[in-house]
Amino acid sequence: MIGIVAMNREGCIGKGNDLPWHYSVDLKLFKKRTLNGTVIMGRNTWDSLPRKPLPKRDNVILTRKPSALAATLRDIPRAHAVNDHNLVRLLTGCPAPHFVIGGRQIFELLNDRIDEWFVTLVPDDIPDCDVHFPFSFEESFQEAERSDLPEGCVLIHYLRRPESWGR
Ligand SMILES: NC(=O)c1ccc[n+]([C@@H]2O[C@H](COP(=O)([O-])OP(=O)(O)OC[C@H]3O[C@@H](n4cnc5c(N)ncnc54)[C@H](OP(=O)(O)O)[C@@H]3O)[C@@H](O)[C@H]2O)c1
Repeated sequence: MIGIVAMNREGCIGKGNDLPWHYSVDLKLFKKRTLNGTVIMGRNTWDSLPRKPLPKRDNVILTRKPSALAATLRDIPRAHAVNDHNLVRLLTGCPAPHFVIGGRQIFELLNDRIDEWFVTLVPDDIPDCDVHFPFSFEESFQEAERSDLPEGCVLIHYLRRPESWGR
């Protein structure tokens, strides 16, 4: 699995169940990278999407109550509700690559399965941020590439250190 996240330098990723910033460069990169694959997200992130599903991708939504959520997804194409127990089985039928796109609870749940991360660092200060990224990359990942994006954003690509698997 591949993780994708945007955060500020304090690790803020969300506020009021929304993204606290809007960078079209980041959204375009996200779209380009994930198109034709599968995006895996938590139910809060699904609720936060202004347009559902994310088009031309399978949308997998993690919830502890998959039947209840599935009932709301009947008319939404390529959207699947699943609990963590059935995730791997469901993903065998979903197009690769499989991207973990948040939020915090799902990053925490799936980090052990993620072997690379694309991180956009944004320059904003966010007072009253209420959702932070759950860990630092240093212990298990190494920086493979870093590039400047427009508007003061920075893109970092991390790869898992081989010795960190199964820790
Ligand atoms: N900056 C970024 O890149 C980025 C990306 C995505 C999201 N975000 C932000 O992050 C925030 C949302 O993050 P969040 O941590 O509150 O929520 P989340 O991870 O999106 O979703 C949490 C939900 O996932 C389900 N879940 C959690 N653990 C589970 C498990 N073990 N098995 C099955 N289902 C499980 C539960 O759904 P049920 O309650 O239905 O059981 C839980 O309420 C928002 O502010 C959003 O805008 C930021």
